[in-house]
Amino acid sequence: MIPVHITGTAKYLPKTRLTNADLEKMIDTSDEWITTRTGIKERRIVANGEATSAMATHAVRKLLGKTKTQPEEIDLIILATVTPDMFFPASACLVQNRIGAKNAWGFDLSGACSGFLFALISGAQFIKSGRHKKVVIIGADTMSSIVDPEDRNTIILFGDGAGAVLLEPGIDENFGILDFEHRIDGSGGDLLMMPAGGSLSPPSHTTVDNREHYVKQNGRAVYKHAVKSMANYTKLLLDRNHISAEKLTLFIPHQANARIMEAVASRIGLTEKQVMVTIDKYGNNTAATLPIAMDEAVDENRIKHGDTMILTAFGAGFTGGGVLIRWNK
Ligand code: COA
Repeated sequence: MIPVHITGTAKYLPKTRLTNADLEKMIDTSDEWITTRTGIKERRIVANGEATSAMATHAVRKLLGKTKTQPEEIDLIILATVTPDMFFPASACLVQNRIGAKNAWGFDLSGACSGFLFALISGAQFIKSGRHKKVVIIGADTMSSIVDPEDRNTIILFGDGAGAVLLEPGIDENFGILDFEHRIDGSGGDLLMMPAGGSLSPPSHTTVDNREHYVKQNGRAVYKHAVKSMANYTKLLLDRNHISAEKLTLFIPHQANARIMEAVASRIGLTEKQVMVTIDKYGNNTAATLPIAMDEAVDENRIKHGDTMILTAFGAGFTGGGVLIRWNK
């Protein structure tokens, strides 16, 4: 099998900041409550008329520039999102057209907060098999389009953003994407969901009046599942690959809540220095948190050639997983 290397990372975050002070004026909450319960200080929100494909396009254009890739060279585009511009056409098609990737195929992938990891491993198979040479994986979500501005349980958590990586064949099989473990568990589906707007409950005046087109969540239950799952995926990857916790250079968990990340890190025995945290600035942007955090880690020089890193996620579905990477640069 051909080794799969991540040869570039990029991100895009909208300019508008929604701070905890802004939220204090909109709902019954406080900066102190949000900071202590979640670690979030602010999130980014799209401008009017800006949506998932626009953010994804910005991220991919940066990625192509950084990796000196021509759009015609791209074989496959997978866009992980739960907030596509429209049900169809797929937002991957909108991105493909905007960047001029005229030789690519692609699709949207719905894996909620685990979407980027599911897309990463899906795309990697086409490199591994020798079928493709350049695969673009995107995580992008416009959560501000589906959170209830009047629901203090959810609006404080989420933000908008996009991140993208380029996958290419490598030579050394000791580098790149080394291992993964993914699962879905539909028994947790009703704990985090958007009840209306799909084929079961198409949009109507009633669904809108009942605010069913917004995210509904049992925060406490999701919290517990998230800690347990992300810790388990990470432990499994470390054990299976005979890597001790202290030898892991960087741990990038899905950025859902700072307390969740601390609990996961402590279960595995990781120090604060090993954990990548961006949630204070961007909140939870669902499929985008991991590629954004990875790009930030690369920019900050927190990951160098030969270092190992684990990305792990948990999300609506339930979906979850982990990926072990040895960085090549
Ligand atoms: N501001 C002030 N008070 C708030 C509030 C807010 N924004 N949101 C909830 N509260 C209140 C609740 O109404 C409750 O009040 P009560 O005790 O009078 O009923 C109290 O704070 C405690 O609520 P609770 O839900 O138990 O808080 P929590 O410590 O569990 O924190 C979350 C809530 C949502 C931050 C937390 O459960 C969480 O992060 N869950 C995981 C969510 C997640 O990551 N989802 C995405 C997964 S990919």
